[in-house]
Amino acid sequence: MSKSTPHIKSDNIKIAETILLPGDPLRAKYIADNFLENVVQFNGVRNMLGFTGAYKGKEISVMGTGMGMPSMGIYSWELINVFGVKNLIRVGSCGALQENLKLYDVILGIGASTNSNYASQYELPGTYAPTASWKLLEKAKKIADEKNIDVHIGNILSSDIFYNDNPDAIKKWMNMGVLGVEMEAAALYMNAARAGVNALCILTVSDNILTQEETTPEERQTAFTKMMEIALELAE
Ligand code: ADE
Repeated sequence: MSKSTPHIKSDNIKIAETILLPGDPLRAKYIADNFLENVVQFNGVRNMLGFTGAYKGKEISVMGTGMGMPSMGIYSWELINVFGVKNLIRVGSCGALQENLKLYDVILGIGASTNSNYASQYELPGTYAPTASWKLLEKAKKIADEKNIDVHIGNILSSDIFYNDNPDAIKKWMNMGVLGVEMEAAALYMNAARAGVNALCILTVSDNILTQEETTPEERQTAFTKMMEIALELAE
């Protein structure tokens, strides 16, 4: 029977156990068109495009998640708990929070600190630390080493706020050595942990909060090949 949720109608098209999750659905299409073979589209609801194909003979899917933790929370929850996805790899962009990070540097997020309330649903008697799965993180680092791609590995910030009324707030996270700010990883890491599956967030630096350097949207669409080379090899 064809599975469907309020946000994903797969029409009997299989979603692979490993999925790449860019925020922008057009980037999902770009990845499918440029890196995968035998591509079929499995989702078009709300234009949140999702595709299944093959990379070097291994089945892999790719789908947009939208921006922010509520959106990532919805899509990753349904992919995991309804469609049985086991390895979820966010491929996104971030603002760099440390001076040594340059545009297009790649970050693997060990942990996703957050200012969001997402964890409140678990009613934990303390503060939860959302983390990447070691299996994917270790494999990603190994792939990066084999391909001679430098990666920064550390804590990232999943923020609910892009336009912050208090511009100094971000400095507190910088002081804690957080590498970059994005808006989705913590929800992904929590959904994966709750269900006992694997998640990793790989980011490319698209702007630097300290130096104000930034890439154009066109560059963001196409120039993330280093990150993609690592992510695609994670297919099992
Ligand atoms: N994604 C890319 N750049 C970002 C920034 N500066 N803040 C939040 N998310 C981002």
